[in-house]
This record gives sequence, C-alpha cells and structure tokens, in this order.
Amino acid sequence: MSWFDTTVHLVYLACATCFVVGLHLMNAPATARRGNRVSAAGMAVAVLVTVAVLIHDRETTAWGAIALAAGSVIGAVAGLVAARRVLMTAMPQLVSLFNAVGGGAAALIALGDALAHTGELGTLPVVTTLTTVLDLAIGGVTLSGSLIAAGKLAGVIPGRPLAVPRWINLVLGAVAVVLATLFVAGHGGIAALAVIAVAALAAGVLLTLPIGGADMPVVISLLNAFTGTAVAMAGFILDSSALIIAGGLVGAAGAILTKLMADAMNRSIGAILAGGYGTGDNGAIAVGAGGATRSITAEDAALQLAYANKVVIVPGYGLAAAQAQHEMVALARALTERGVSVQYGIHPVAGRMPGHMNVLLAEADAPYEQLKDLEEINPDFPATDVALVVGANDVTNPAARRPGNAVSGMPILDVDRARSVIVIKRSMGQGYAGIENELYSLPSTAMLFTDAKAGLAALLAGVREFAS
Ligand code: TAP
Repeated sequence: MSWFDTTVHLVYLACATCFVVGLHLMNAPATARRGNRVSAAGMAVAVLVTVAVLIHDRETTAWGAIALAAGSVIGAVAGLVAARRVLMTAMPQLVSLFNAVGGGAAALIALGDALAHTGELGTLPVVTTLTTVLDLAIGGVTLSGSLIAAGKLAGVIPGRPLAVPRWINLVLGAVAVVLATLFVAGHGGIAALAVIAVAALAAGVLLTLPIGGADMPVVISLLNAFTGTAVAMAGFILDSSALIIAGGLVGAAGAILTKLMADAMNRSIGAILAGGYGTGDNGAIAVGAGGATRSITAEDAALQLAYANKVVIVPGYGLAAAQAQHEMVALARALTERGVSVQYGIHPVAGRMPGHMNVLLAEADAPYEQLKDLEEINPDFPATDVALVVGANDVTNPAARRPGNAVSGMPILDVDRARSVIVIKRSMGQGYAGIENELYSLPSTAMLFTDAKAGLAALLAGVREFAS
C-alpha cells in the first residue's frame, strides 16, 4: 500500500471516529450542538479526501471533475439554506427529504457502478453483485418512500392511511427476489437491475401510502434506518470504509429509534408495515366526541391554576407551532413560586419529531426534575388538580383506549383522569391523526380558545396578579 493510500485510510478512520464521538455527544442537550459540529466536520473532511482520491487515482475526467465540483457546491448550498430556513415544525419533512436524497444517491451508486462494469457483470464476485442489488433495492424503496412520507408530513398528500391491496406488494417483492437471485448468480445484467429499481420505487410508494396518522414517527425512523443501510452497501461497492461506518451508524441508530418509537406507540413494526391502522370506523368509537364544550376565560383559568396544589402541564405540537415554550416555563415558574407543585407530562410522540418537547423545554430552561415521561406521570393524574394541555391533541385522546381508530392502542397521557382539565388551543381543529378528541366535551374540561403564546402570556399575567 502506498503512503497516499495509508494516509487516506487513516483520515477516513479519523472521520469515522468523529461520527461516533458526535453521536455520543448528541446524547445530552447540553453537548448536542457540539456533537453535530464534530460529525459535520468529519463528513466535510471525508468528502474532501474522496475528491483528492479521485484526482490522485485519475479516476475522473475534466468534465467529471467539473460535475463533481458543481454537485458538491449545489448540494452544500441547498443543504445549508434548507437547514437554516426550516421551521422547527417542518423539520420532519426536511429529515424525510434528506432520507430520500441519501437513499437515491446510494441507489445511483449501485446503478453507476454496474453500468461501468457492464461487460463483466456475469463474472463479478458474489459480494459485489449482492451489495449492488441490496443497495439498489433498499435505496430505491427509501427514495420513493421518503418522498411520500415528506408529502404526507407537509400535507401535500393526505396524511390518513390510504389502503393498498397487499398482493401488489407481494408480487413486487417476489419479482425483485427472483431477479436479484438471478443477478447475483451472474445472469440478467443491467435489464434485471432496471426492473429491480422500478419494483423498489413502486414498493416504497405502496408501503408508505397505507401508513399514516399517529404511525408516521415510526415510518420516518424506519426510512432513516433504510438510508443508513443503503449507504453502507454503497460503501462496500466503492470500497469506502468511511461510507460503510457512517451508513452502519445511521442504520443502527435508525433501527434502535424505530423500535423505541414502535414501543412508544404500542405497535409492532410488522403490523405498522402491514398497514391498516386508522382505517377503522372512527365515527363508531368517538363516544362523546363532538358534544358540547365549555369555554373558560384566561382570568378564570389563571385563578384555578393559582389556587391549585398540583398542576401537570402537557405540551404538544401547538406549543411548538406557537413557539410558546418560554411563556410556558415562565408560567410554571410563577406557579412554583406560589407553592404550587408543577410537573410536565411528556409524551414520546408529542410534536412532530422524536424528543421535540424535550428540545423546546431544554431551550426554555425548564428544570429537569419537573420533566416526567408518560409512565411516570400517568399514575399522578387522579391526584392532579389541574391538567393544563397546551396545543396537545392526539396524545391526550381517550379514544386511544378503544379499538378501530387512528390512535387505537397508542398509550396516552391520562389527562382525562385529572380533577379538572384546561385545554389551550385555537379552535376545535383536529390533531395530526385527524379525529375528534372527546376529552374536550368532558364535564371536567374547559377550553381556552386562543393561540398558545397569547394564552400562556395571559395566564402568566393573571397568576402574577394574584401574587400582588
Ligand atoms: P396534534 O395531535 O398534532 O395536535 C396539535 C394541536 O395543536 C391541534 O389540534 C391544534 O388545534 C393545536 N395548535 C396548532 N397550532 C396552535 C397554536 N399556535 N396555538 C395553540 N394550539 C395550536 O399534537 P400532539 O398531541 O402533540 O400529537 C402529535 C401527533 O403527531 C401524533 O398523532 C403523532 O403520532 C404525530 N406525529 C408525531 C411525530 C413525532 S416523532 N413526534 C412525527 C410525525 C407525526 P387548533 O388548530 O384548534 O389550534
């Protein structure tokens, strides 16, 4: 091995170490930003080294080098602008689009490599042909599946599950397996790969369409795991240790997150992929939904909060949309200063991305010991004087305790078991799953119809008045 190759391998190893260290630093909010920077620096160096390798090995023509430079600049600028401009509430769509780009790039690597070796496809070693078909199939499913998921999250495609006959997926899977086996055995050539690519793209669309409503978090993390796996396969094709390690890390982290999300939703991953959740008769189970609701003024709500012994605040997507985390924490602080016991009930899929509420609360400096997850807080609700629901909907819907609807089986925060409930939201609008919430028509529930930021500010002003 020449000194150049040795140096390249050592630099790739250093880049991979940056990915691992970066991932570790992302474990805690305090170090997460540093973790992101360390990982990004590792990736930037890996890209530069790859360019150096291509030039050194004379593997690219002058036009190739221009295309490489143009692609790198366009990609970097697009990524930078998208990440800087994106609203926190639109982050899941962006993550889905990044997944699509990753899967698509990995699939193109497989196709490009096969096209470069058209004459020798029948004689390539099994490890090369196997990684090529796996890269193409997983990358193709990820590309089209992530585009559909991004469309659903952005509201461009209906978010509700769209039923697709299961036999179509079975036929596509069978065709892909037969052709992949032929290709690995040295037959079929580019034609077999082209059909596998089309089947994978179709499978991505058909697998993602039937999943919707409250199950989207699981799909996003699953597609993330797919992206990592496809990238790792591309690393085998290109013989790039940095790609193999980066892809392996993303694949493993995505797989763990998928399991955690599925557990949080009380679903099995197989059942989610088979689809069908949320296609039940929602009307039949919405006992009490759509009934009369009781409104409350900010003054009365502030009075109730100020004279409570125990308050549990339940934040949801509306808090993120209103960016009202600072007002919420200021209200909690004012109540705590009055001697009220205050805790936050955090649902694992509240908001639109894993850990969304924790990020917002950390940003507003909420005391860590006041943050309680679902299992910890649920037994406390019967002894809670006021459950203050701020822009949360699906994660509090008692319909989840009954079968046949979009949130069935999902563990919820048991706010309906509190002595009284105050819900801050702007209207009777539905949550992400698109069904009514019967919590709103319970006799113990009062609705404060306003934007979360304005509502919390009014509550804070009211509570402060009682202190003076
Ligand atoms: P949602 O069920 O989405 O409900 C949010 C509520 O916030 C809406 O009903 C809306 O009602 C209200 N709202 C919106 N803007 C507001 C504002 N400015 N001020 C006050 N209220 C506002 O939220 P959730 O309870 O957090 O549940 C999350 C849902 O998203 C679950 O179904 C989950 O599966 C899904 N999801 C989660 C993730 C992850 S990983 N967390 C990813 C994708 C999907 P109004 O319009 O009436 O105000």
